[in-house]
Amino acid sequence: MQYGYFDEKAREYVITNPDTPAPWANYLGSPDYGAIITVNAGGYSFVKSGAAGRILRYTFNQFDEPGRYIYLRDEETGDFWSASWKPVKKPLDQYRTECHHGTSYTEFVSEYNGIRSKALYYVPMGATHEVWRITLENLTDKPRKISVFGYAELTTESFYTQDLVNMQYTQFITRTEFHDDFILEQINEFNYPRPDGTTGRERFFGVAGAPVVSYTGRREQFLGRNRFDAPQAVLDGKCDNSVNYNGNPCGALQVSFDLKAGGKGTAAFLLGQKDVFEARKIMDRYVKTEETVNSELAELIRYWHGELENLKISTPDPAFNAMVNTWNAFQCFTTFVWSRAASLIYCGERNGYGYRDTVQDIQGIMHLDPELARKQLTFMLSAQVHHGAGLPLVKYSHNAGHEDTPEQESYVKETGHPSYRADDALWLFPTVYKYVAETGNTAYLDEEIPFADKDVGTVREHLKRAINFSMTHLGPHGMPAGLHADWNDCLVLGDQGESTFVAFQLYYALEIMKEFCENEPEYVRYLDETAKNLLKILNEKCFEGDRFIRGFRDTGDIIGSKKDKEAAMWLNPQSWAVISRAATPEQAEAILKTANAQLNTPYGLELMQPSYRYEYFEGARMRLFNPGTKENGGIFCQPQGWAILAEALCGHGNRAFDYFRESSPASFNDDADRRVIEPYVHGQFIEGHESPFAGRSHVHWLTGTASTVMVGCVEGILGLRPTPKGIEISPAIPEDWDGFTMEKVFRGKKLHITVDNLAHKEGKPEKVIVNGRERVPGVIPESELKDDNVITVVM
Ligand code: GLC
Repeated sequence: MQYGYFDEKAREYVITNPDTPAPWANYLGSPDYGAIITVNAGGYSFVKSGAAGRILRYTFNQFDEPGRYIYLRDEETGDFWSASWKPVKKPLDQYRTECHHGTSYTEFVSEYNGIRSKALYYVPMGATHEVWRITLENLTDKPRKISVFGYAELTTESFYTQDLVNMQYTQFITRTEFHDDFILEQINEFNYPRPDGTTGRERFFGVAGAPVVSYTGRREQFLGRNRFDAPQAVLDGKCDNSVNYNGNPCGALQVSFDLKAGGKGTAAFLLGQKDVFEARKIMDRYVKTEETVNSELAELIRYWHGELENLKISTPDPAFNAMVNTWNAFQCFTTFVWSRAASLIYCGERNGYGYRDTVQDIQGIMHLDPELARKQLTFMLSAQVHHGAGLPLVKYSHNAGHEDTPEQESYVKETGHPSYRADDALWLFPTVYKYVAETGNTAYLDEEIPFADKDVGTVREHLKRAINFSMTHLGPHGMPAGLHADWNDCLVLGDQGESTFVAFQLYYALEIMKEFCENEPEYVRYLDETAKNLLKILNEKCFEGDRFIRGFRDTGDIIGSKKDKEAAMWLNPQSWAVISRAATPEQAEAILKTANAQLNTPYGLELMQPSYRYEYFEGARMRLFNPGTKENGGIFCQPQGWAILAEALCGHGNRAFDYFRESSPASFNDDADRRVIEPYVHGQFIEGHESPFAGRSHVHWLTGTASTVMVGCVEGILGLRPTPKGIEISPAIPEDWDGFTMEKVFRGKKLHITVDNLAHKEGKPEKVIVNGRERVPGVIPESELKDDNVITVVM
């Protein structure tokens, strides 16, 4: 079943049937003031932290309530409905609706009984409040009187768990008051008031553009004994002008419009955590409602569409275009900014950045906004401990140079992380490389950045210490020890266990460093010898002809041998053998073939097979999951990006694109009930063939999948591969494509690229013509590029 479509021009996903199999969501604002909004206006808002700064109540895992509800009521008949389909849920043959999820805004356009409503939700750029603009239009030829009720269910306390469970306390700390055009919620009012009598904990919910007809600050009054589909106040046609004192606060405001035939009316509900003075100021800004809202929306769209402008592709596959041009890209910005902070799955309890997650997230926006990427990269380098490891959790309040580390009890107590992971700092190598390659800014390598606990060093020095950390934590075979975990959080290998995935990462790091340290022959010699040695170990101890094993347990036993009954074949060691350039072309062919034969499904590649059931070991924590789920044989989505990239690097365009298509959200657009979550954003995993729900996806939006699949598409399938000296363009595409075009901004220069595939090949182009000059495929040096370049790639 299909519930919506991609509107590429507007960069929107338009939901035409709101009865979606899960609450399909969008992100508004930033973590400074964040809002998640679903297809039925469900979701919540928070200031800085989803868990500790919650201002709107939301019940997790209860489908989709409450939300930012706008009720409409025909004052003549008493009939009422909502601006989004739910909560009132009018029959869909009478109620026509579209939910437009856009880049940082969501708009509901609905029509019922001769009234068209548009409810637009957004957080203005740089602001810490939200706007719900409602516009009504009378489509009939007689006058209509329509009341509009805005409803916001405010939390009693900023800590969302307190709000939900500590009711003997939190129900008795708030009251609401009414100020002409807004309701103000006071919390712990007499506790530490500021000199002006405010606390900074107040929330306001107001309405601009039309006078308040009635109000209530009590949820019990608004709802009565009913639920959100039929609140008593809406049934009655008015709120009772009451305020809350103990119990559940809310903001509920009624305004009313007399609409002539064809007439229009507009109001805007405003919400935020603001004291009475700040609230007043914000309210006053929206007196000219239409004007203010329109200019704020235009600014938002200008910003976001601007961010997405640096790469525009037009291929024969519209779903691929929509993902690369807009939705995968927007998701990358979302993970970049929000990390794993808050979603309908993550409630915001984690108070920091995961090291590897964030360093990977940075890669996802590199081709679009490398300077924004650099800021976060510098921040993450400053979260590297002086000995080179990454802090397992980087606090939002991170203070470089002064942080405790897992060696100290205080850090462990605060973060719950007792030890280092083997892979964390190794993610820095591809990310730094991608930054330097995208921008040509090699001077970045000489920039001085503090370490988390002590010392300062150049970026190059930071990277050297990361290598040193791996080299001083080797296992018995001389490969990196597994430590607390590698990329796979569920694989606890310990100091005596060893990971091939990390070994490939280290190999890749050594190769990158050779390029970064050209002027240090001695060090390059060391890197070279270390790499050769590592390669020898990998080939002698870890290669089984058709696969690389996953590693060694602390007992020395092999994990991921073809002889094993369970977990015999693993995806990541194969893709990373190729990405790291450690595999020979023959090895690459063989291992990718095995991955395809043993792991591929109609919905992507399973992480390993067969799932653990009986033959597990202590450190194999994925056994806790049902077979075919998450790390236990599920189709983990992040590794799909690596598989796409690995295939593309080998010139296997058909398979690279198959892997994209199989797991891409957009591929499920007309089979959305199978996938369940949004067909426009990646989830963390898809259930594998051992599950009765194969193809169903989970953990929407905030996942490393966004960046790895983006990189897989951009560097892999599209073949846009910047290097410090220039850019290589080497697409790996389905052989049935005749060709495609790309518009890319590279170091401020415009590249108009046409790929000609009339030869119907799947990779490894024959020639590249740059501004009329033919050249053999390879890196096009920056010096050959003008401000505007016409480039033809002939496959
Ligand atoms: C989750 C984690 C990520 C980890 C992956 C595999 O996506 O956020 O850090 O690498 O699971 O375990």
